[in-house]
Amino acid sequence: MAVDSLRAHLVEELTDLLDAENQLTRTLPTMAAAATTPTLRKAFQKHLEETRAQLVRLDTALRELGETPRRKTCEAMKGLLKEGSHLMRKAPGGMLRDAMLITAAQKVEHYEMASYGTARTYAQVLGEPRVARLLAQTLKEEKAADGTLTTIAEGSVNEAAAEEWSAQEDGLVERSALWVGRAIGAASRLTGRARRTAVSVGLAQERPRRRTPTRRASATRRTPEKRKGRR
Ligand SMILES: [Fe+2]
Repeated sequence: MAVDSLRAHLVEELTDLLDAENQLTRTLPTMAAAATTPTLRKAFQKHLEETRAQLVRLDTALRELGETPRRKTCEAMKGLLKEGSHLMRKAPGGMLRDAMLITAAQKVEHYEMASYGTARTYAQVLGEPRVARLLAQTLKEEKAADGTLTTIAEGSVNEAAAEEWSAQEDGLVERSALWVGRAIGAASRLTGRARRTAVSVGLAQERPRRRTPTRRASATRRTPEKRKGRR
């Protein structure tokens, strides 16, 4: 379909948003299930309900413009959700995964805010106040959802994710120290070639060489006279 007017562009944008919201309704339940923080899980569940209502508004807006809603893939939402899914797979769980979920969700919210904001303005410019009102209502919800995510992130998740990482790091240092201690202990019991290898990689120290008797010391050893005297 040729986009040769602002009106046609608005229709394209709303059709794109229709698919974006549909994709989101399929993904939000997974995001809610993956969340550890109860308030984050509830925020995703609440936004899922809002998204279903937003789909109805988009359908209404398109019909107000005399259009029949049609199918079109929103590539931007597809990419954002794919990236979010990759992030979640990398995270082991807990607060770090919650932080990643918030990252992904806020990227989605900001994409939607930009889309609804511009679409609402086009509707106003084109003299479509009813369409503009529908889009403004959704824009308000998207902004509120974004604000809720910021509150959850700054209220608990970000710091908890940082502490979680710091605790993991401490555990790693302790385990490394224990391993080095054991390795050094084992190296001290090595002999021959194995010991020389341990010395070369810094796990063991060279053993002090045995003192060899000096000439003077050997000279003071038992002389014939002494031997004689001792007889
Ligand atoms: Fe939405």
